[in-house]
Amino acid sequence: MRRFCVFGNPISHSRSPDIHALFAKQYGHEISYKKQLVSLHGFARTIATEFNQGLAGANVTVPFKQQAWQQATKLTEEARASGAVNTLIPLPAGGLLGANTDGAGLLRDIRRQGIDIAGRRVLILGAGGATRGVLKNILDANPETVWIANRTAIKAQQLGDGHANVRAVTTWQTVSGVDIVINATSASLSGKLPDVPTTVLGGAQFVYDMVYGPGRTSFLAHTAAVSEAQLSDGLGMLVGQAAESYRLWWQCEPPQIAPVIEHLRHSMD
Ligand code: ATR
Repeated sequence: MRRFCVFGNPISHSRSPDIHALFAKQYGHEISYKKQLVSLHGFARTIATEFNQGLAGANVTVPFKQQAWQQATKLTEEARASGAVNTLIPLPAGGLLGANTDGAGLLRDIRRQGIDIAGRRVLILGAGGATRGVLKNILDANPETVWIANRTAIKAQQLGDGHANVRAVTTWQTVSGVDIVINATSASLSGKLPDVPTTVLGGAQFVYDMVYGPGRTSFLAHTAAVSEAQLSDGLGMLVGQAAESYRLWWQCEPPQIAPVIEHLRHSMD
């Protein structure tokens, strides 16, 4: 039986053990996947102990993703670009490979819903860790343009630096013809709305909120009132990033995400 764990603080809310148990069922794999609360100063010691005791892989969540990045001895390109690691994989010769699977998870969930980013105009709201975690994967999908709008504009400018088709939004007048809007702010967590003109939402074809919950997020409820766009919350991204971790640990095809999303959706009702 291979043993896995998700480390975080807090951690009791994590759905990762359920998700990985459902993936394992798809393959007939025998796994143990636990959640472990780590003290704020205990991350490095805890993962060293666990991997020494034969842990086969770990997920890392708030607030340890940057520390995991530092602990990893090797990084995937996505992890390097994002400055954060959500998946640790022990390397055969010793040390840990750090990966960030959030972007792959988001892209997988967007594709699942029939949306192709290639050649499209994408607007990302927010310039924090969530945006950093997915930007490389979005750019790899060949959008025509990516705008980043953030309450603190300088952070959007910094994220766009060095990317020819990424533009920071300084005035909404320069933004037109947006096809896809991705809300990567944490505003929905507190029922707040990020600043975006209703005309932009009204013209979009697909609007995605990385946050999820039992009902519609505040951002998606607002969007539904002003736009005909296809809407999605971030539950599928959660399952998608887990599927990518699973693929890395088991070196298999990524598991099916749709039945797992459906299962979680029902369990939240
Ligand atoms: P992280 O630690 O990952 O950077 P965060 O500090 O929670 O996460 O912020 C995530 C993003 O949500 C940031 O872009 C933040 O905007 P600022 O950079 O201006 O702080 C954005 N955000 C959070 N609450 C918001 C709100 N009420 N309205 C608009 N944007 C918000």
